[in-house]
Amino acid sequence: MEHQPDPKDQARRNFFAEGGSVLIGGLITLVPIAAGTRVLLDPLRRKSNNGAAIRVTSLDALPPDGVPRKFPVIATRTDAWNKSTAPIGAVYLRRTAEGAVTALNVVCPHAGCFVDYVAEKSCYLCPCHNSTFKTDGAINDAKSPSARALDALEVEVRGGKEIWVKFQNFKAGHAEKIPSA
Ligand code: FES
Repeated sequence: MEHQPDPKDQARRNFFAEGGSVLIGGLITLVPIAAGTRVLLDPLRRKSNNGAAIRVTSLDALPPDGVPRKFPVIATRTDAWNKSTAPIGAVYLRRTAEGAVTALNVVCPHAGCFVDYVAEKSCYLCPCHNSTFKTDGAINDAKSPSARALDALEVEVRGGKEIWVKFQNFKAGHAEKIPSA
């Protein structure tokens, strides 16, 4: 006599077979989507140039008398999609009496405006709330709204003529230099 399958067993087998198909189908669909999304968003996860050494100018561009000059800081960014250059800030560079080069971020530490160098007064002036800073970046006035001096940056003169600056922004409104992200 032929054995008749139990309808409950058959239903259970069908349930697991269909469930397995759905699971495998879902994985086959989701894995490429996840991989594609990761590739697509990869450039967005890359870090900024904050803190990287960037060539700003050549030593010849600085006057020998120690008067600061303002230069844009232009970074090259490379990601999965393209390579581009864009300004990410600006610095004041000057030669010191000892022949070294110093760099100051142009951003006022009080609230983030850009300071101007006023040659007639040999100081930096912030147009927003009138903080003033000496040529070396120190606070010029005890009543200055800025709680700290202009932010000095690391400078390297490569090959005796190329000026590279470790460009970095810092949070405004603090007495200490706190790097911004
Ligand atoms: S932002 Fe410069 S003094 Fe306020």
